Amino acid sequence: MILRRAPFDFARYIWDGRAEDLKAQAKGPIQAGVEMASTPDKVIATLTSMPLYNDWFKLAFPGDPSPVTFDNVAKAIEAFEVTLLTPASPFDRWLEGDDNAMTEVQKTGLNLFMEKGCSACHSGVNFGGHDYYPFGVVERPGSDVLPEGDKGRFSVTKTADDEYVFRAAPLRNVALTAPYFHSGKVWDLKQAVAIMGSAQLGAELNDDETTAIASFLTALTGELRPVEYPVLPPETATTPRPTAEVIAK
Ligand code: HEC
Repeated sequence: MILRRAPFDFARYIWDGRAEDLKAQAKGPIQAGVEMASTPDKVIATLTSMPLYNDWFKLAFPGDPSPVTFDNVAKAIEAFEVTLLTPASPFDRWLEGDDNAMTEVQKTGLNLFMEKGCSACHSGVNFGGHDYYPFGVVERPGSDVLPEGDKGRFSVTKTADDEYVFRAAPLRNVALTAPYFHSGKVWDLKQAVAIMGSAQLGAELNDDETTAIASFLTALTGELRPVEYPVLPPETATTPRPTAEVIAK
């Protein structure tokens, strides 16, 4: 079987791989202007203003004299995120020997996925997510899929070889996560498969083939375990209040 297992520490995050691990990724949205628009100082001021958070950080980071740090915030988020596994997809059950877990069409799709060469880039336990490839190996997609001027990993490494190079997106649960590609311009999984065929493999997949491969990809949908939300500590008089800033752009 060509589907190699990649160790988790090879994983890369964000389409251009600018976060080297989950911890680094977690620090991003907190500070991004269009997301939470906060700063490390503000996060620490907010957390330390609530006694319960101080207690929880002491418990979570025993031996750390001042555990409420931005780094530990990211570590805690990372520790939570690694529990978000989605086991028992039809594909996993089939791998474990349950022949009926996948339909015939899905099995055909798996064969095509390997024969056509999708698995060369979408490999390992997550079917991708640990390496970069040009988007448009054979034929660069039009600006309807790949916005012009969007050069992917080049913006991180400034290396000419990395122009139009992107992280091969992991395909687990992909049927649940439209829209597709980092531009989010494609909403239909079958269409995403067809674009991959022509852009990455120079293969015009026929309708039966895209249907079978898309059907196989739905077999990568695992069980989503419910997440129990904690009751959060109440704010205190010293908790920084939200500010209504108008975000440019
Ligand atoms: C040469 C490497 C390569 C090959 C071969 C390849 N892909 Fe991809 N794939 C990528 C990259 C890189 C991306 C991310 C593009 C982006 O983010 O814009 C991607 C993205 C995708 C996506 C979108 C995932 C998402 O969540 O947005 C799907 C679906 C997909 N590929 C399926 C396939 C299928 C099916 C095949 C075979 C027909 C295939 N790929 C072949 C590199 C490859």
